Order: sequence, then structure tokens, then C-alpha cells
Amino acid sequence: KAESKARIKQLLKVKDAVLVAHYYTDPEIQALAEETGGCVSDSLEMARFGRDHPAKTLIVAGVKFMGETSKILSPDKTILMPTLEATCSLDLGCPIETFSDFCDAHPDHTVVVYANTSAAVKARADWVVTSSIALEIVEHLDSQDKKIIWGPDRHLGSYIAKQTGADMLMWQGECIVHDEFQAKALRELKKLHPEAAVLVHPESPASVVDLADAVGSTSQLIKAAQTMDNDMFIVATDKGIFYKMQQAAPNKNLIAAPTGGNGATCKSCAHCPWMAMNGLKAIESALENKDSSDHEIFVDDTLRLDALKPLDRMLDFAA
Ligand code: 13P
Ligand code: SF4
Repeated sequence: KAESKARIKQLLKVKDAVLVAHYYTDPEIQALAEETGGCVSDSLEMARFGRDHPAKTLIVAGVKFMGETSKILSPDKTILMPTLEATCSLDLGCPIETFSDFCDAHPDHTVVVYANTSAAVKARADWVVTSSIALEIVEHLDSQDKKIIWGPDRHLGSYIAKQTGADMLMWQGECIVHDEFQAKALRELKKLHPEAAVLVHPESPASVVDLADAVGSTSQLIKAAQTMDNDMFIVATDKGIFYKMQQAAPNKNLIAAPTGGNGATCKSCAHCPWMAMNGLKAIESALENKDSSDHEIFVDDTLRLDALKPLDRMLDFAA
């Protein structure tokens, strides 16, 4: 491992590359990004950091839509990923053909898609949002009386519809990690730790969100652990977040919310199987980039320009 880390550090310098990692990657990957002047953040901040950093190459440790977003925002940079196989159940569950048909059937609706989608789905949308800005953007659209098509995460969509009262037609996708959190078991755990506050990512089912003391994106949950007075937190999101959350709130006791697990997908692990693919060896081989088809992100130029519009709309709104 030490050897692999040293080699990665050397390659980052030689290739004028910077490591951009999501909070759900394994702790050693997040630590390496921090040590080497890269960034560890939520998906909105990853996009911004990559776009604004002067490095020629970005190595995106996360899942494919994050690499694609980086390429859309920074076409002149080389965007590498530890593996192009790291996808997302939301992206997989929202193929462009059927999604586009769904949009065509409701031409009077504004199309808002979650960042966890392909470049083609983004290109079909009016707005792209991440979980840290979704609520504000839908509030803004609702204030203009827009009817909304929302895709693909039905849990996040329902949460936003409930909070804003917006008129939203939902695509029926879900995150296989957050979908596993169990309300019944969480209620039991809360009884055992009545002093604990419950932090929930809104990709979780409504029954779990209903038990939350704070609901938000990964960065918002980390902030909540840091700023809320409680000494203990029950956390319903991918366990990768514990690395940064514990760093941000060193004296707090963090425990994982219970998952069910359907055996076929993430086996009650509360850890995204695709995020877990971002190992040291894979990063090393991406930086060596001997075979670009294994690591490099390309986005067709016409598609890129169409996907850039709703992404820029989000970034301008967030600025
Ligand atoms: P955020 O980091 O934007 O909250 O996204 C969560 C997620 O599911 C990324 O895969
Ligand atoms: Fe997709 Fe869920 Fe994995 Fe995030 S945690 S990449 S939403 S499957």
C-alpha cells in the first residue's frame, strides 16, 4: 500500500494531475486526496473544484456520472477514472430512450434531473441538480408555477415534493444503498439511544426520512454533525462518510443506521459497491493510463454542449 501511494503521488506530479474524491470512497482514498492537494467533497463541490483547478488532468474517484460531469465542464482537461465500471443504480435505472419518451409525453413540464444520470439524460433536461441544491432549485421553479418532471430518484423527489408542495411527476429510480435503510430497525435503535440525533440522506425511503432530525446532502450531514449539540448521531447514508464526518466532529459518537439488505445488491453493507471500486491499484493504473478505454472519459461534443446548459444553470444558481 505504501508503495502504491508513493507511486500515485509521483504520477500525480508528473502528469500534472489532481485527485478529486467523493465522501463515499474508502477512507484511504479520501486521505490520499487530502494529502496531495486534491479535494474530498459532495458531488456539487467535486464538479466545481475540478472545473476551477488548473491541473491538466483530473482523476475522479467516484462513479461514472461524476467523471462525465467533469468532462462536460472541462472539455480541455483529461478526465481519468479508476474504473469506468463504477456506475450508479440511478444512472442505470434511467435510460435515455425511455426517459426522453417520458419527457416528450409531458411537453409542458420543466425537466429537472439529478446529477446521478448519464450525459445524454442531462442533455435532455432543463436543469441538473445535486442533493445539496435540489430543494432550492425546485422551490425557485415552483415559485414560477412550473410543473416539473423529476428523475430519477423517487425518494429524493418525494422528499422535495413534500417540502415544497411543487407539482412533480416522478421517474421511479432509486439508490440501492439508501433504499436499504430500515425505519422499523431505526426506531428500535433510537429507543436505545434517545439522546442521539438522526442524520438522513434524502435518497433514503420516506419512512426513514420521517425519523430524521436533519436531512441533507453528504456535505450538509457532515455540517450537521459538526454544529448540532448532540454528542451522538445515527447516520443513514453510505458508510464512506464516517471518515470525513468524524474528522469534522472528532468528539462525537457516530453510529450507522440499520439496513435490511436484499442480498442481491449491497448485502446490508451501507456502502456503494461502485464507490468501493476506487482502490489504490485502480488509481495507479488510471494515472498510468496505458489503455485509455479503461479509464478515460470522453463525451461526444454535441451531447456535451447540450448537457452543459442545465449544468451551468445549476452552477450559476448555486454561485
Ligand atoms: P451528494 O454527495 O451530492 O450528497 O450525493 C450523494 C450521492 O449519492 C453520490 O453518489
Ligand atoms: Fe448511486 Fe447510490 Fe452509489 Fe451514490 S451511493 S453512486 S446514488 S448507487
